[in-house]
Amino acid sequence: MSQFHFDPQTYLEMMRAEVPDYERLQDELAAASAGRPVDRMLDLGAGTGQTARRVLAVHPRARLVALDENPGMLELARALVRDAAPTARFVVGRLEDPLPAGPFDLVISALAVHHLDAAGKADLFARIAVVLAPGGRFVLADVVVPTDPADLVTPVDGAHDQPSPLPDQLDWLRQAGLDPDVVWMRRDLAVVTADRPAA
Ligand SMILES: C[S@@+](CC[C@H](N)C(=O)[O-])C[C@H]1O[C@@H](n2cnc3c(N)ncnc32)[C@H](O)[C@@H]1O
Repeated sequence: MSQFHFDPQTYLEMMRAEVPDYERLQDELAAASAGRPVDRMLDLGAGTGQTARRVLAVHPRARLVALDENPGMLELARALVRDAAPTARFVVGRLEDPLPAGPFDLVISALAVHHLDAAGKADLFARIAVVLAPGGRFVLADVVVPTDPADLVTPVDGAHDQPSPLPDQLDWLRQAGLDPDVVWMRRDLAVVTADRPAA
């Protein structure tokens, strides 16, 4: 799943082929965002907008900020969510750089954080905690290093794909001051909610 493979035009087809549970993962992320009011939301590694589209269906009034380093992917995202989120903002930027200013009620990220190494993930989680509003939620959906090596079914290149074990990621979320909970898992895919305590 190297970012260098990402051709915006063929992206979705490629993901469905490489990640058989791709649609389920997106649906589980969207479901994990439900049950709370969301005014502002931030999508990290938004890609072509497949994740944002589903979450906007749950939170139709949410104002979206979508960040990705690939402008071509964001152009497709802009087209995909144009009707659902006419005021959405699209930011070409890197996960490693300062995040768009909060506060956000919801931060989401699907299949993007595994492009960072361990230190990069811990650093990103700390910065997400800062831009989350008190009582806000981060929902992470990603490929992880599974306990049983036989469950590692998603193609990873070991260079640009750097998944981490789930327990490590839960520790980094706790160290960031968030309260994590694993809400869905299948083989090497996981969806985690991480809530910032209310003030
Ligand atoms: C596998 S796609 C996931 C896109 C979308 N969230 C989805 O689930 O379909 C990963 C996305 O993360 C972006 N990405 C990868 N590394 C990044 C980084 N360091 N900073 C910003 N975006 C990054 C890529 O450009 C790509 O659009």
